[in-house]
Amino acid sequence: MKFFVDSADVAAIAELNDLGMVDGVTTNPSIILKSGRDIMEVTKEICSIVSGPVSAEVVSLTADEMIAEGRKLAEIAPNITVKVPLTWDGLKACKVLSGEGKMVNVTLCFSVNQALVAAKAGATFISPFIGRLDDINLDGLELISDIRQVYDNYGFETQILAASIRTANHVTQCALIGADVMTAPPAVIKGLASHVLTDKGLDQFVKDWAKTGQKIL
Ligand code: G3P
Repeated sequence: MKFFVDSADVAAIAELNDLGMVDGVTTNPSIILKSGRDIMEVTKEICSIVSGPVSAEVVSLTADEMIAEGRKLAEIAPNITVKVPLTWDGLKACKVLSGEGKMVNVTLCFSVNQALVAAKAGATFISPFIGRLDDINLDGLELISDIRQVYDNYGFETQILAASIRTANHVTQCALIGADVMTAPPAVIKGLASHVLTDKGLDQFVKDWAKTGQKIL
């Protein structure tokens, strides 16, 4: 499973990238707002660090405007993935932009049918939002599993990019289901290395080592 970082925090992306944890990056208008940076400037900086797909989202609501914005965003770097919303206009933009050879990430997906039409429109990635379904007492992971089954039934090549990941368990379950990609905030990715028994065990080793009175260096 590929790891994308759901962030525009350049320092955090660089730290994870140095560890080989970054196969790509996803951003959205809320993430750009949080960064306090200019979208073109911060996206260019991210693309200079990460060689994998970097999603930059259009903000207009009509297909023509999304296409124009997508073309402009795609000029930032060759690894830009244009992110469009899962609306009828977004699908029209997806079809045109993917036809031009651009990678397209169709976002805000909350149903299998939406994932189906995105695949038909040539999406490179489909982004089902797990956490936001869980927020309204629906099962986000079940959606990932259902899309996996449907895409596999018909050999769709659109990659399932599990988004709105909030917990380490979401990551585990996405890997078990066979999501192609998961995108998560840096803190969730760093949290994957944590286990309470690791902390407890290390604490004991440190205490016992001190009692030996020895040094390695
Ligand atoms: O990039 C979109 C998605 O991952 C947002 O997550 O936590 O705001 O629902 P969240």
